[in-house]
Amino acid sequence: MPDCILESVSVAERTVDFVAVLVMAGSGERLGAGVPKAFVMLGGLPLWRHSANTLASLPGCRQVVLVVPADRVARTVGETQDFPVPVRVVPGGARRQDSVGMGLGAATARATVVAIHDAARPMLSRETALAVIREASRSGAALAAVPVRDTLKRVRADGTVESTLDRASLWQAQTPQAFRVEVARAAHAEAARQGLEATDDAALVEALGLSPVHVVRGDPWNFKVTEKPDLEVAEMLLARAGGTP
Ligand code: CTP
Ligand code: MG
Repeated sequence: MPDCILESVSVAERTVDFVAVLVMAGSGERLGAGVPKAFVMLGGLPLWRHSANTLASLPGCRQVVLVVPADRVARTVGETQDFPVPVRVVPGGARRQDSVGMGLGAATARATVVAIHDAARPMLSRETALAVIREASRSGAALAAVPVRDTLKRVRADGTVESTLDRASLWQAQTPQAFRVEVARAAHAEAARQGLEATDDAALVEALGLSPVHVVRGDPWNFKVTEKPDLEVAEMLLARAGGTP
């Protein structure tokens, strides 16, 4: 085998040190379960525990930061004794963006990359997470995404169609979204300074031009549990897979 191929294999499989920030401080209004969404039981575990287990067990994971509702901090700490890596549990903020900011503030381990993940996506695979983390280490910023499958319409307030979008270049953003640590910190600090708001972290990096942002093709199983049918689908998939995503 030529040397260049050997080298590209070892680069692709290099372990990247990372901190995982799991945001789980939302109230889960659309699910309407009576408890915050991340704490709903799924396959015998609290929903957040599925992706936390996946991230904590990846090679290179140096720390997991759990960003939880303020009144859940103590209780959650009590549920983290069996993690294979150091865990910090901190309270979140009013918006997702605030919760991520709190998580970044609590990330103390030395690492090249921070991987930010919605606990509401319990079916995260090891392959997707590692691919996003590796791409972020290489290029600065990366997120899991899937190509849009349906035709998308722009609709006016009165319910009539204004236009049909060309879906060829459209992708649905997921998490994890991973960044070199300095890129993520700069994005959140600068967004706070400028009053910039976005529903995901990559959008802050894009808007501020801090790094090119690469998509990594994820998989449709990594959907976000948002409403009740999503929870039922996740329950069925986990049962079929024997409990592990
Ligand atoms: N999140 C958070 N802090 C917030 C809002 C959201 O940490 N202030 C987290 C959620 O816990 C979730 C992820 O961000 O893991 C994605 O948000 P979303 O799916 O909107 O969850 P919720 O805000 O909890 O749900 P809803 O919007 O239905 O209330
Ligand atoms: Mg929300």
